[in-house]
Parts: sequence; C-alpha cells; structure tokens
Amino acid sequence: KVLILDFGSQYTQLIARRVRELNIYSEIHPFNKIPQNLNDYKAVILSGSPMSVRSAEAFHPDLKGIRGEKPLLAVCYGAQYLAHFSGGEVAESNTREYGRANLSFIQDDLFFENITVGSQVWMSHSDTIKTLPTNGKLLASTHDVQNAAYKIEGEETFAIQFHPEVYHSTDGKQLLENFLVKIAKVTPDWTPNAFVEETVEELQAKLGNDKVVLGLSGGVDSSVAAMLLHKAIGKNLYCIFVNNGLLRKNEFTDVLEQYKGMGLNVKGVDASARFLDALAGKSDPEDKRKAIGRVFIEVFDDEANQLKDVKWLAQGTIYPDVIESVSATGGPSATIKSHHNVGGLPDFMKLKIVEPLRALFKDEVRRVGASMDMDATLLGRHPFPGPGLAIRILGDITAEKVRILQEVDAVFINGLRDWGLYDKVWQAGAILLPVNSVGVMGDERTYEKCVALRAVESTDGMTADWVNLPYEFLQKTSNDIINKVKGVNRVVYDISSKPPATIEWE
Ligand code: XMP
Repeated sequence: KVLILDFGSQYTQLIARRVRELNIYSEIHPFNKIPQNLNDYKAVILSGSPMSVRSAEAFHPDLKGIRGEKPLLAVCYGAQYLAHFSGGEVAESNTREYGRANLSFIQDDLFFENITVGSQVWMSHSDTIKTLPTNGKLLASTHDVQNAAYKIEGEETFAIQFHPEVYHSTDGKQLLENFLVKIAKVTPDWTPNAFVEETVEELQAKLGNDKVVLGLSGGVDSSVAAMLLHKAIGKNLYCIFVNNGLLRKNEFTDVLEQYKGMGLNVKGVDASARFLDALAGKSDPEDKRKAIGRVFIEVFDDEANQLKDVKWLAQGTIYPDVIESVSATGGPSATIKSHHNVGGLPDFMKLKIVEPLRALFKDEVRRVGASMDMDATLLGRHPFPGPGLAIRILGDITAEKVRILQEVDAVFINGLRDWGLYDKVWQAGAILLPVNSVGVMGDERTYEKCVALRAVESTDGMTADWVNLPYEFLQKTSNDIINKVKGVNRVVYDISSKPPATIEWE
C-alpha cells in the first residue's frame, strides 16, 4: 500500500482516489502522525498545503525512514518543502501560478515515460522553487515555472510543482502510474474483487460465530456493508430496516423486498405512527431532526433487544468520515464510538462496532457492490437524508402533508428515470412549501400548496450546482404534478447553488 502524508491540501483526498484508481491501495495520514509500521508501505506521497514553507509555522515532518529509503513523490508544498529544507531556495512568486499550464521541457526519464512536451498540468501555488535542493536534477519546466519537476540523484525521490491528482492534469494518472508501478514497483492488485475477498476473510476471523446487528437505510453504504457481512457470516447477520414514515412513496415495501431477494436476514419495522406522534407540532428543523433521531434509537433499541446474544453493531461508515484532518489532534469525529463512555446509552450502543467500509470512498463502495452483483438501481440511488421528507416539509408535519409530498416526489423522480436524467443528477427531491397560492381550476378559485423541485450536481454534497434540466421535462413534470396530486396548484424549480443555498431547505 501507499502512504499519503497530508499537509492540509484541498486535493489530498483526490490523490488517494487517483492512486486507488490504479488498483493500488492508499491511505491518508496527517504529516505529524506518521504510522509506526512504515514497512507496510511501498511508497510515500507528500501532499500540497495552503501553508508556505517560508512561514514560521511551516509544517515540518520528520521524514526519517522515508526519504532516501522509500520511493517518495512530493507534490506542490511537498516539492517546495524538500527544496527549502535541503539546500534549495523557495521564494514568493512574481507571476500568478494558478490554473492550466503546459510542460515546455521534459527530461528523458522513467518518471515521465509516455508523457510528451505540451502535456497540460494544473498549477496552484503562490511560492516558487528558485533553486533545486542539493543533488536535485531538473525533470520538467513550463513556460512560467522553471522548476516544475525534479528528482534527487541517488534517491528514489521525485518532486512536482503541479497537481497530478487534479483532472486538468491530463497525464496525471500516467505520472502516478510511472512513479508507483514503474519506479516504486507496487503491484496494482487492489481491485473490488480482491477487496471483497480480503474483507470477507477479515470479517470471518474477527467475528467468528458472533451475532451482528445492522440498521439498513435503503442507501448504498448500509446495503453494501450488509452484503459483505452476509457473505462473511450469513444468518448471523441480523438486519433491521425501520420505516419512519418519511421515506419516499412505496420505498419501504419495495426496498424490503429487494433486501429479502438478496438473501438478507432482514426485519422490516413499520414505526411510522411513532415518528409522526413525536413530530406533532414541531416546526423547527433541528427539533424535528432530534425527535427523529431519538425515536430511531428507541425503535432500533427495542428491536435489537429482542435478539439474543448479539455482540456487534455494524455500521456503513466510509473513509471520508474517518480521515483525520490535519488540524485535528484527536481521532475521527461524529461516530457512535465517541459516545461510548457516556452513561445511560441505549443497549445497542454498548455493542462492539464493525465497519467493513471504513477504508472506501463512496465511488469505491459502489464498485464493490457491483462486484458482488448487487442491483444497479440500488447502487445508483441518490443520497437521501436520514430525517427523510421531514426536512422537505417546511414547518410542521402531518400525515396529509407527507402523503402530498410523497406523491409529488414520485412524479418527479419517476420522471427523471423515464427521461434518462436520473443518473445525470446527484440528488433530487421535492420540497413542500408552507405557503398557499391562488389558482383557477375550471371556473373555481383554488387556494392550494406550492412545491419546489430541486436537482443538483455534486461530488460529495459539500458544494452543489443546480442542474439545467430540459424545459420540456420541467413542463411535463409540472403538469403531471398539478394534474395528479390533489392539493398542489403551483410548482417552482430551485435555481440556487451551494454555497450559499444548502441542498435541503431545512
Ligand atoms: P445540505 O442541505 O447540508 O445537505 O446541503 C448536504 C447533504 O446532506 C444531506 N443531509 C442530511 N443527511 N441527515 C442526513 O442523514 C440530515 O439531517 C441531513 N441534512 C442534510 C442532504 O440530503 C445532502 O445530501
């Protein structure tokens, strides 16, 4: 595997993903917490950083056991770091070095094999390397950046000022492959199939004959986690799928059937009434979220308690949830684990935790699911918030409002599928607004609900753009909603991007 030392660049996760796309497993660690067992890593990559090496607080890792001993690739800050502290010179740049550039000179070297002059690279830095470090040998330049790439003679150390992990560096993947496969001789054998095989073995060794409980949500992560555990321990996996009454139309029955078809040992629990009761009269979004969270824990606890001798709680936690950020000194945040010492916990939280997807990015979870022949519609499903339609009904919640929104949402989502637009959209849904507006139907004046439709493109939900859906589609959808869903007489389309407008309205 490959070790990526993070200096806080916005692109660090991309480095890990690009490496993994080469079927090579990579892990991100903060630069100041280098793992003890360096023998496990075949190569090391230093990330970029918002920091300047010339500042007094410059991150200063101890590269003992790495530099000169293992193949090392230093990107951006990493490249400046090696130059600045090893006999070279880094200075403030007087030209703007951001965006696309083209390599104007490339030294004949294994590192640049199959990459030719003119290759586009992505720059994002404000300092520049004036002089190479001791034993540095120039490997590439661009028009504005003389020292765009260098190596250190006598070591397997390479440094590049540009970002190979960014899509705009057109030969970035080739460069990473040259470094990892040709130079560091890492075998690219980390495939979804290999992951499944390895994980199933690990789970069997870890869990033995123990019973495990898992909450299914209908989402990709919990479903793939369940399939892995199912492969490993079969009937010792007990799945619970709770209907909180705030799912999409027919979702509970459809997905439950799908789970059963996959051979999962799953119990569907319809607790809709309990959730609706708890939500009665609540309009504040955070109050609604808390009520739903609380009832979910109560319901799950009741169910888990009916199972005898369960030792483990499985969760669909994925890699972005556990990567330590560079500024953080503690462990990962916001997992159930961190609450373990609090008194008065529900019983299931006292279970040991098993998280088979901890090492995977979302797209990798999908690929692992596909390699286990899981259904493409399940794997391609849009993200859906835990509190469900409760945070898409602005204001207080009633059974009637849930029904209206379920109908509207179904017209929208089914329409996206019918028009072949579903997979072009990252997330979509309808929002029931707390306003009535005037309309005419026949000769009658109506005073009915207004709904907003939202469809966004995103990679991780942190930022999002509204999707330019075809007018014809919007026209048809609006007509269908107004004609078919009683109580709605107006449809609007949300054309706000995040930031500042969050994806959900609450
Ligand atoms: P926002 O609205 O913050 O949403 O732009 C970003 C992503 O998070 C989802 N989301 C939630 N998911 N519980 C969840 O499980 C929540 O309370 C919640 N709020 C927002 C949202 O659907 C989007 O994918």
